[in-house]
Amino acid sequence: MKKRLSWLSFLLLLAAFTNIQCAKHAVPPTSVSMPEVKGAVNVGDQACADCHEEACNAFAKTIHGRIAPFETAGLGTGCETCHGGGSLHVESEDPGDIIAFEELTSAQQSRICLDCHTMFHWAGSEHYLNDVSCLQCHKMHPPAGKKLLAKSDPEGCYSCHMDIQAKVQYPSHHPIREGKMDCSDCHNPHGSMVRGLKTDERLNDLCLNCHASKQGPFVFEHAPVLEDCTICHAPHGAIANNLLKQNEPFICLQCHEFHFHAGKVGYDKSTDSAGTAVSAGYYVTGQYPEAFSLSKRSSFKRAWTTKCTQCHFKIHGSDLPSQAVPGQGKALTR
Ligand code: HEC
Ligand code: HEC
Ligand code: HEC
Ligand code: HEC
Ligand code: HEC
Ligand code: HEC
Ligand code: HEC
Ligand code: HEC
Ligand code: HEC
Ligand code: HEC
Repeated sequence: MKKRLSWLSFLLLLAAFTNIQCAKHAVPPTSVSMPEVKGAVNVGDQACADCHEEACNAFAKTIHGRIAPFETAGLGTGCETCHGGGSLHVESEDPGDIIAFEELTSAQQSRICLDCHTMFHWAGSEHYLNDVSCLQCHKMHPPAGKKLLAKSDPEGCYSCHMDIQAKVQYPSHHPIREGKMDCSDCHNPHGSMVRGLKTDERLNDLCLNCHASKQGPFVFEHAPVLEDCTICHAPHGAIANNLLKQNEPFICLQCHEFHFHAGKVGYDKSTDSAGTAVSAGYYVTGQYPEAFSLSKRSSFKRAWTTKCTQCHFKIHGSDLPSQAVPGQGKALTR
């Protein structure tokens, strides 16, 4: 009992500690105070156009320049939804009397956007937790690109994720650099249920959206495939073919042993493994008869120790039993 109690208190302490750790930067984004210009009230976009004509004309063509009042459920439209009330600034022409985004902390910048854009997973996203704001990816005034991005995906992402940029240059890669996919095909930069991935439940569901042929249930499953595709595959790029984290057979040997045959050498007509002459057809301990060997002594070894999927080619699962009896049909060979 005593022991259990001390464990319990240890766990409680741990929980308290991790809470403190989280609290360090995880102020919920919506409890960040909304920036405002004290004493200023709204005056309407027409007033801004008097002095910022060019900005107003260009802005009118963007999505925020075209939103209708009903779309924002009472939060209004126009310049002042982001820049705050303009009455003082219109009088003073002082840039200090209007909300300028450059002057705000990144949490405050995002706070303004979150008023209208409820982003459920933003609070838990690595971007928010690492002080990245909406405006490090988005730009509100022209010339902003598609989805108001300052730089398109993936170029915008590369400016911070250079390690990933390097990985997509590896020989085996998702066709990102060919322009057929982008980071947002797999990631939600605003956060998600599962580590920023575009899936609600499991990492595998993301992969199976596009690679449906790997989806079971199969009669003969392969445990790691069910568990997590990234046990074997590197999603961004790999040196080995097929986005494998390591080449065969090494990737397999992390969990499996070589077949016991793999250590055997094929039988050579004239010599045994020590090079001593033996009579033809004689079975030497530790060797296999000629019928099993593939013409050269070492070739038998080689066949079993290079690419496991030569034989186990239904590595992601199969509905057909493998033929050999001792394996109970589970060997994924057809
Ligand atoms: C009477 C002229 C005038 C009116 C009207 C006016 N502004 Fe300005 N605004 C200025 C001047 C002058 C500056 C400073 C420009 C500079 O520093 O290059 C400025 C700067 C700004 C800035 C940039 C602040 C910064 O620190 O860089 C923003 C944002 C801004 N105005 C928004 C607005 C909005 C929104 C309205 C309408 C509510 C508005 N302005 C109406 C004259 C005006
Ligand atoms: C959806 C939010 C939003 C709205 C609406 C908006 N702005 Fe901005 N504004 C920004 C942001 C964010 C910046 C910082 C630069 C950027 O993202 O383009 C900015 C920058 C500015 C600047 C500073 C110059 C610069 O490029 O840094 C001026 C001036 C300005 N806005 C005026 C206006 C006027 C006038 C309107 C209305 C016609 C308006 N803004 C509407 C978000 C907004
Ligand atoms: C007053 C409410 C309001 C504010 C504040 C606001 N937005 Fe929006 N925004 C909208 C509406 C409405 C739309 C159009 C409907 C939609 O796509 O949700 C929109 C659309 C967008 C889009 C989609 C563009 C596209 O091409 O699909 C982006 C990106 C965006 N906003 C980013 C921002 C950012 C970043 C901020 C803060 C600087 C911001 N918004 C502030 C209301 C707002
Ligand atoms: C790390 C970069 C990044 C950050 C930070 C970011 N966005 Fe985005 N946002 C994107 C990309 C990329 C897209 C386009 C997604 C796509 O094409 O599927 C996008 C799309 C959007 C859209 C269009 C609707 C949608 O989901 O496709 C809105 C609205 C939006 N962002 C608002 C915001 C707001 C508000 C914030 C801050 C709270 C924010 N974004 C922060 C990169 C970012
Ligand atoms: C302004 C810099 C910046 C930009 C631009 C940026 N990121 Fe990030 N991102 C970070 C930081 C900082 C982290 C947290 C530390 C890390 O993992 O490197 C992060 C983390 C991530 C993660 C890990 C998420 C998790 O929950 O584990 C993903 C995925 C990601 N970013 C995707 C993107 C995508 C996609 C884009 C482009 C649309 C993008 N980022 C643009 C700075 C940035
Ligand atoms: C085919 C889907 C896919 C594509 C496309 C993709 N990612 Fe990922 N990304 C993943 C998966 C899966 C993870 C691993 C998540 C985990 O295990 O936590 C990941 C993890 C990350 C991480 C977290 C750090 C790390 O190295 O594990 C970052 C940052 C990231 N991706 C950025 C990007 C960027 C930037 C792009 C675009 C160049 C991109 N990703 C394209 C699937 C993808
Ligand atoms: C948005 C669709 C999409 C998603 C999601 C996706 N893939 Fe892919 N995947 C592709 C495309 C497209 C190719 C390239 C096919 C081609 O070149 O014929 C590919 C190729 C591959 C390849 C073969 C690479 C090669 O070098 O031949 C592997 C392995 C792979 N994906 C694994 C994964 C894994 C693991 C995930 C989940 C983390 C995933 N994919 C998520 C679209 C996707
Ligand atoms: C036990 C390791 C392992 C796991 C886990 C795994 N794979 Fe593979 N995958 C491989 C190997 C090995 C190859 C190369 C097969 C070959 O050469 O026949 C491959 C090839 C692929 C290919 C490209 C060739 C093809 O058959 O289209 C895709 C796509 C793929 N895997 C998707 C997935 C997906 C999706 C998952 C998760 C559901 C997954 N893999 C899990 C080992 C694995
Ligand atoms: C992360 C560990 C892991 C990796 C990597 C892995 N496997 Fe497996 N494999 C397993 C597990 C666990 C089982 C299920 C064993 C059981 O049910 O007794 C299994 C089952 C098998 C089976 C069926 C045998 C049986 O008795 O069920 C074959 C064949 C197999 N793996 C081949 C491979 C090959 C080939 C590779 C490399 C491409 C590989 N495995 C990579 C863990 C792994
Ligand atoms: C020349 C073909 C061939 C090669 C190469 C091969 N295997 Fe096999 N393997 C088989 C056959 C056939 C069986 C089925 C034996 C049985 O059913 O008893 C089997 C069975 C297995 C089993 C199940 C063993 C058991 O006792 O149930 C595992 C695990 C396995 N192989 C892993 C591997 C790994 C890992 C590699 C690569 C290092 C590999 N195999 C290379 C043909 C091969």
